[in-house]
Amino acid sequence: MCGITAYCGQQEALSFLMQGLSKLEYRGYDSAGITTLENNQLLTIKCKGRLKNLEEKIKNYQVHGSIGIGHTRWATHGIPSNLNSHPHNNSHDTISLVHNGIIENYRQLKKELIENGYTFQSDTDSEVIVQLLDYYYDGELLEATQKVLKRIEGSYALCIISTLEPDKIIVAKKDSPLIIGKATNAYVVASDIPALLEYTKDVYFLDDLEVAMIKKDHISFYNQQGKRIEKTLTTVPYDLEAAKKDGYDTFMLKEIHEQPYVINETLRGRIFNEQIILDELKDINFQQFNKVYFVACGTAYHASLCGSQVLQRVTQLPVISMVASEFRYNDPLIDQHTLAIFVSQSGETADTLAALKLAKQKQATTIAIANVLGSTISRDSDYVLYTCAGPEIAVASTKAYTTQLVLLILLAYYIAQRLNKEVDFQLIHQLNSIPQYVEKILKDEKIFEKYAYMLKDLHDAYFIGRNLDYASVLEGALKLKEVSYVHADAYVAGELKHGPIALIEEGSVVIAVATQPHIAAKTISNIQETIARGAHVILFTTHNENIKHVENIYYLPQIAPTLQAILVAIPLQLIAYYTACIKGCDVDKPRNLAKSVTVE
Ligand code: M6R
Repeated sequence: MCGITAYCGQQEALSFLMQGLSKLEYRGYDSAGITTLENNQLLTIKCKGRLKNLEEKIKNYQVHGSIGIGHTRWATHGIPSNLNSHPHNNSHDTISLVHNGIIENYRQLKKELIENGYTFQSDTDSEVIVQLLDYYYDGELLEATQKVLKRIEGSYALCIISTLEPDKIIVAKKDSPLIIGKATNAYVVASDIPALLEYTKDVYFLDDLEVAMIKKDHISFYNQQGKRIEKTLTTVPYDLEAAKKDGYDTFMLKEIHEQPYVINETLRGRIFNEQIILDELKDINFQQFNKVYFVACGTAYHASLCGSQVLQRVTQLPVISMVASEFRYNDPLIDQHTLAIFVSQSGETADTLAALKLAKQKQATTIAIANVLGSTISRDSDYVLYTCAGPEIAVASTKAYTTQLVLLILLAYYIAQRLNKEVDFQLIHQLNSIPQYVEKILKDEKIFEKYAYMLKDLHDAYFIGRNLDYASVLEGALKLKEVSYVHADAYVAGELKHGPIALIEEGSVVIAVATQPHIAAKTISNIQETIARGAHVILFTTHNENIKHVENIYYLPQIAPTLQAILVAIPLQLIAYYTACIKGCDVDKPRNLAKSVTVE
């Protein structure tokens, strides 16, 4: 998704703008640009392609201004091109703006502006905002912004500068992330915390519909009604080192290897004397709920699928797990007796946030499972539990997923405890050993690299599993397709014979997970059916009876079946990773994908 940076201070803006944009590269983008104020003129430099193209272009200019805005664009309206890149300027070249989000009523607004004599250079929805600012400008940029915000519908994070008021940046947000940092002699703005860390850890989180006016040595905040409000500075605990590659070739590999540590961090202080301690939730009366919803997207949805099965098993509460983009169009059955759990690494996923809004309107009690401190989801939910994965930079989620699994399992057992259900203490003990088991599996990296050679030339791969293993294979297939572009589908193993087995032929590769003892033998029978049709199988299991003709078996440690999803995630991530590497794919930034999906 688009990334935004802005600087207002005593130094030249350029170095913050560019380092910030490079820290936001992980979000995915197709073009980039900056505007700085130079001797009271706008200097806008932008182009299609990677940041290095922009850097080359900048070399042809003198860029010294101490107020500026920057942008990486992920195309939504209009193809990636120089003209569609941000910043966008008004026709008089007095106002410049960067925007992340989607303006839903831009066609109507554009029509009105054209009728009023405005002309447009780009196909973007964003250009409408800057022309509208021009239309409403009457000597006060802040006032013009407030008028514009009343006219636009949709989502936005905005940074605006102008030659008419060259001492300030106006920023505003709704349903798109934007964070303001207070650095030494400067204010810095970005879409995500890693872009700020080199300058400051002290940040203001702007809430939806709020506006900030930033000057070099002063900041003021306004609510939707235009009234001055106070905001408090928060110090974020991240450090810059955590956002670097640490000698690994890619962020994805680094993040895979961080899992023993971050799982430990996520468990830290949450198990004590055979009890699960989630003090953040101590005020909830769990007796009031008659059902639980889990809502999330992508990898977070797969973690939810696993967490929801465990919760239902241990609490006997009816549980429904839904993809966020479907949730609000599906008339969910929610009322004040519903507990709704929203899972999101970034905490900024537009579909998940919209689902959260709906659940709150319908009076559910909401819990967010988030990784990014201060993210929108964590601020908008009634309660929040943080995974402690640290900044996840690679687009493909790895350590966020396994820490989500850990936290969701803790949550399931915590709710069971609070409902006075019988709790398996052995399992709670084993949770503490998960980091060691993960460490051990990581030592077998070479085996998974070898499996990757079986996949590298394939067009399709098949993943099968049952029960909790189905969530694992869904995630395994997603990882493989997003980083290596090998098409992969995951099936409930018992469904193969109802259609998908027609696809299996000589040379097909089937990756099977069979870790649930009560059903493993059945998955293994399904594997035999694929072998009989020429498939090569890679099996991850704890089961060792009667497995014939399977060329590649990896035995997972013998721990509680409920915890196996955490362990099997590691080989599946590494298979995807090495397949992508062997094929020469850009592992950290797969094509067409964004780290944080802030549009619907
Ligand atoms: O930030 P979130 O956890 O809400 O993101 C949800 C998905 O967009 C994300 O998991 C996506 O599927 C990743 N590319 C998976 O690797």
